[in-house]
Formats: sequence, structure tokens, C-alpha cells
Amino acid sequence: MPEPSGKRRFSLCNDSMKHKKTFPRRKGPPPARRPLRSAPAGPTEWDQAARWYSTVVGDQGSDYQRSLIFPGAFRMLAVKKGDRVLDLACGPGAFSRYMSKKGMRVEGLDASEQLLSYAAARSPASIRFHHADAREPGSFGDAVFDAIACLMALQNMEDIQPVMKNAAAWLKPGGRLVLVVTHPCFRIPRQTHWGWDEEKKMEYRRVDRYASEMVIPILTPPFARSKVFTSTYHRPLESYFKALVEAGLGVDGLEEWVSKKESAPGKRSRGENRARREIPLFLALRARPLSRR
Ligand SMILES: C[S@@+](CC[C@H](N)C(=O)[O-])C[C@H]1O[C@@H](n2cnc3c(N)ncnc32)[C@H](O)[C@@H]1O
Repeated sequence: MPEPSGKRRFSLCNDSMKHKKTFPRRKGPPPARRPLRSAPAGPTEWDQAARWYSTVVGDQGSDYQRSLIFPGAFRMLAVKKGDRVLDLACGPGAFSRYMSKKGMRVEGLDASEQLLSYAAARSPASIRFHHADAREPGSFGDAVFDAIACLMALQNMEDIQPVMKNAAAWLKPGGRLVLVVTHPCFRIPRQTHWGWDEEKKMEYRRVDRYASEMVIPILTPPFARSKVFTSTYHRPLESYFKALVEAGLGVDGLEEWVSKKESAPGKRSRGENRARREIPLFLALRARPLSRR
């Protein structure tokens, strides 16, 4: 979908996107059960990654999802039993199931039909999945959700302004939007790296570029033999805040989550563990509609 202005804001990190292929839809698990509104015109780049990503996430989430992202996002959503919640860009639906088990009335929305097929096949029928583009406004009425979560997905969207606008409209007054992204200051594919300072005996994080918005093609699955890519859209913090503010959303929570992993004992383990505790992997933001216009 073209940018509304017709102008690309993101610079391409290298030229490997020109090798990107779009895979035809393939037969797979049963289709999502929800009639499709605002459905994307064709397969998305996540359709070709769906089988791999669903395996990585599994029924209950990957390690980081289970240990950090799901409990952290759920706490920030501040929901209560029976609340109507949306898992925006739900992928294979692991967080939808997490919330459903805790007694929420859950709906999931995603642009990838293949990922939704896995989500529907693994989830109870009480979770309703919608095949739609999060940038399109037509999926829900105004003020219908108590809370909306968008986990690890904004960095895969080229244009977040309409997504924030939709979220603001779909939230009830006082509703919460929780966003989790890979930390935009420290985890920029190809632009940030770990290094070892021999003199200080410290592991450090090197950041080569930050302030420019970039689109970075990622081999997905991340194997050398892969030939297809998904796009990561790096944007600095100010771009996230600008999109939220322009949508009439005010940030009332910000958390930075670090890895809980520990290195095996060794010469560098102390430095590595300290670096893990100091350099966050994920950024979580909570926002609420400021007022109804
Ligand atoms: C890295 S996956 C994250 C999925 C899930 N939230 C999770 O944490 O496992 C990114 C997801 O964003 C979805 N996505 C990307 N652009 C989208 C759009 N414009 N509308 C809806 N979903 C989109 C993809 O289909 C994919 O499921």
C-alpha cells in the first residue's frame, strides 16, 4: 500500500529488497473463521514466513514472549475479567490465547492470512480472528475495546500513523493501548552490535545509526539458504511519540525490558551478564486516548 503522501519516508538499508519474492498462497491449516473486512489485497511478506514464525512462537510463545513480553504487556494493559481486548497484528495468536486464558474476551487482527490460519487452528473458538490491514479503519466501530495490545509488530509496519489513529478510535474512553517493540535505541538490525572492550573487560553495545528512519530487509527465516525477506522499519523514539500524539494518544507508561539470560561461567561472563542487565532488548509503551474529538 503506498504511503498517503506518495513519498517514501524510509531509506532502504541496502539493496537486497530487490530480490524479495512474494510467495503464492499455499494450502495449509484451516482458514481463519472470521469473515474478512478490510482484508489485504493479496499475500503479505509475512505469509511466506508464517510456517517458520508459527513454529518459533509455538502454542504459548517463544522464550522472550513467555518470560518478558506477555507478562509485561498484560500487566500494563491493566485489564479485568470480561474486558474486550484486541491483539493487533496478532500473528499466530499466542498472546490472544494468553489473554483468553486469563478471562478476557479476545479478538485478534492480522494482515497475514497464513498466520491467522495457524492462530485459528490453535485457539479456542471463543477468540475471533479478523483478516485485515491494521492501517484500514473499517474493521471495528468506535470505542469498542477496553484495551489493545500490539506486540512486536509496529516495527514491521511501514506506516504507523493510521494504525495509531485506528487504535485511538477503537478504544473506549480510558482504554489502554500497549505497544512493545524491539528497543529502537539499542536493537537496530545491521546497525547495532555487541563488542568486547579488552581494556575495561566490558561488553558494550555499538550503535552506528539511530536518528534516520530505515527499512531493513531481514532474511525470514533467518537461514543462509532463505531467499525471502520481511521488512523491519526502524524509527527513532520521536517518531513513535509523534504518531501517538497526532492520533490523540497520551503516553502514561514506559518500560524497558532486559534479558534475564545468564552466560555460562567463563572469562567474559561477568561483563556479558552486566551488559545484558544494562542494555534493554524491548521497549514497552502504554498510551490512552486523551479526549474524544
Ligand atoms: C513479528 S510478527 C508479531 C506477531 C505477534 N504479535 C507476536 O508477537 O507473535 C509481526 C506481525 O505483524 C503483522 N502485520 C504487519 N503489518 C501489518 C498490517 N499492516 N496490518 C496487520 N498486521 C500486520 C504480520 O502479519 C505479523 O503477524
